[in-house]
Amino acid sequence: MKGLDGRVAVVTGGGAGIGEAICHRLAAEGARIAALDISLPAAQRTIKAIGDGLAAELDVSDSAAVDAAITGVERDLGPVDILVNNAGAVGLDHVRRVTPLLERQRAEMAAGKVETPLDALVRLSDEEWRHLMAVHLDGTFYCTRAALLRQVPGEWEVCDVELDEPREREVLVRMGAAGLVFGEG
Ligand SMILES: NC(=O)c1ccc[n+]([C@@H]2O[C@H](COP(=O)([O-])OP(=O)(O)OC[C@H]3O[C@@H](n4cnc5c(N)ncnc54)[C@H](O)[C@@H]3O)[C@@H](O)[C@H]2O)c1
Repeated sequence: MKGLDGRVAVVTGGGAGIGEAICHRLAAEGARIAALDISLPAAQRTIKAIGDGLAAELDVSDSAAVDAAITGVERDLGPVDILVNNAGAVGLDHVRRVTPLLERQRAEMAAGKVETPLDALVRLSDEEWRHLMAVHLDGTFYCTRAALLRQVPGEWEVCDVELDEPREREVLVRMGAAGLVFGEG
């Protein structure tokens, strides 16, 4: 008997990186995994490696798609016990802009004085900002709302992913972009 035997765990962005690792960890504890990712092949790779579970394509910033995906999880695996809001987007143009400036700053630091401004914030475009907010904030809200919709009041809680021990019907919520964690007693 493992800690999460039979629990249904939804991991957004479960196709790569931290989300993929979370899928493996939860599966090792006996949870049944739904890896939802904007990249279906990535989600499928995760589930194939685990050996069992559900892989589905999902853009977490699409409210209707989130509702449909959670309905699909409930239909195929059962009610959602654990939700890990992990999906995260990187502003690639922004990273490409900032990386060379960072390298220049490091070189200047080694030489004794940093003179190059990063301008990381002031160069971020409206479009990049909206995309980041849509994935990290809207996505977290849409997924949490959908997962909680059919939960019985009092049988769930929202908590930090860093909690040591799994609890009954827990929903894990993390807002990656803003680094916000919110919880309910
Ligand atoms: N890696 C870090 O150092 C770091 C630091 C702070 C926060 N984070 C946060 O942790 C989370 C995971 O980071 P990572 O490094 O594993 O990222 P990653 O880029 O390796 O993986 C992110 C996954 O999310 C998926 N994804 C992207 N947009 C999506 C969308 N709209 N809908 C569904 N899936 C989507 C990607 O396809 C990918 O599989 C992100 O939220 C990130 O912001 C990471």
